[in-house]
Amino acid sequence: MSSPFLQIQRLRKTYDQVVAIDQVSLDIEKGEFMTFLGPSGSGKSTTLYIVAGFQSPTDGRVLLDGKPLLSVAPNRRNIGMVFQRYTLFPHLTVGENVAFPLRVRRLPDAKVRAKVDEMLKLVHLADCRDRMPEQLSGGMQQRVAIARALAYDPPVLLMDEPLSALDKKLREELQSELRRIHQQTGVTILYVTHDQEEALRLSDRIAVFNKGRIEQVGTGEDLYRKPASRFVASFIGNSNFLPVTLAGGHADSHAVFPNGKPVPIAGCDRALNAGDGGALMLRPEQIRIRAQAPHVADDGLPVVVRDITYLGDTMHYSVATPWQQEIAVRTAAGTHEAGLAVGAGAWLDWDRSNAQVFPA
Ligand SMILES: Nc1ncnc2c1ncn2[C@@H]1O[C@H](COP(=O)(O)OP(=O)(O)O)[C@@H](O)[C@H]1O
Ligand SMILES: [Mg+2]
Repeated sequence: MSSPFLQIQRLRKTYDQVVAIDQVSLDIEKGEFMTFLGPSGSGKSTTLYIVAGFQSPTDGRVLLDGKPLLSVAPNRRNIGMVFQRYTLFPHLTVGENVAFPLRVRRLPDAKVRAKVDEMLKLVHLADCRDRMPEQLSGGMQQRVAIARALAYDPPVLLMDEPLSALDKKLREELQSELRRIHQQTGVTILYVTHDQEEALRLSDRIAVFNKGRIEQVGTGEDLYRKPASRFVASFIGNSNFLPVTLAGGHADSHAVFPNGKPVPIAGCDRALNAGDGGALMLRPEQIRIRAQAPHVADDGLPVVVRDITYLGDTMHYSVATPWQQEIAVRTAAGTHEAGLAVGAGAWLDWDRSNAQVFPA
């Protein structure tokens, strides 16, 4: 079997006392769209800059196509980079901006012209060749930056929050553009964002960063359905966390709610033992809400409805548990029962297979 295209191995970077990243390891396949997702300060940019060569790690290594990358000078890595702020040369036309990396590489004029044409067509800016950057909108300038970064066919394109300076509508437009450009070129992309929705839209796989480490790597669906930690569960999608006490530790399949009601669970963190507190995670759409008690009363949790919002195809309920915790429930609008009203009692239940317990 061939080794992964880009291998990041046990990277560590410290600044005096500050550990920026630690034990960061990740394999990226050729052509993959890999996103680093995490809150501000979690080490995403540091990891990206080490691959780019703007920073050197305290420890660890990076292999590209099986060969060590960190010993290669940054300007010889041929890696494309797009930043959050527009970095076009203001005194050069759009065409000359895209041509710049090709001229640095001393390509003949005819080749440069053909490549610039091809790149501007790729980002749908063929008409803007002779314009100056300041005559373009922010979104258009980022497209030029992408064209320039792809002009010399880099093995990897690195992007550090390239859309976060744009407003929502432009951002979504550019997200679809990026998907198209990725599909059309097949280039391997490492992309940094703190926006989970953007990560889910764009990525083949997502690496979730927290406090300088990768907590989990997987497809958006993996992370949503099987979060490995409470951090991942709360960072991707919406979650309710209900307090429980473990009945018999992680080998057992029961926990107990604060009102003494037993609750069957699917699985639980290995660190938990009998008597430990935990947090039972349930996504709003994994919970069913009924006006009547289930046939076997033990199977449901009694609640009081606090608020109901109709949102076209879905209904959102806010309900209070016997221990006065607000829980969010989302159902298909067609399943709403007439007896469900603000102030009235209701019953929640869910499939046991969805009930995961994390350390509290
Ligand atoms: N030049 C630096 N000097 C000191 N600390 C730094 C420096 N660059 C980054 N850090 C620290 O390293 C951590 C990770 O930063 P960074 O990689 O920029 O995070 P992110 O891109 O996820 O927001 C943060 O705690 C940050 O304060
Ligand atoms: Mg950053």
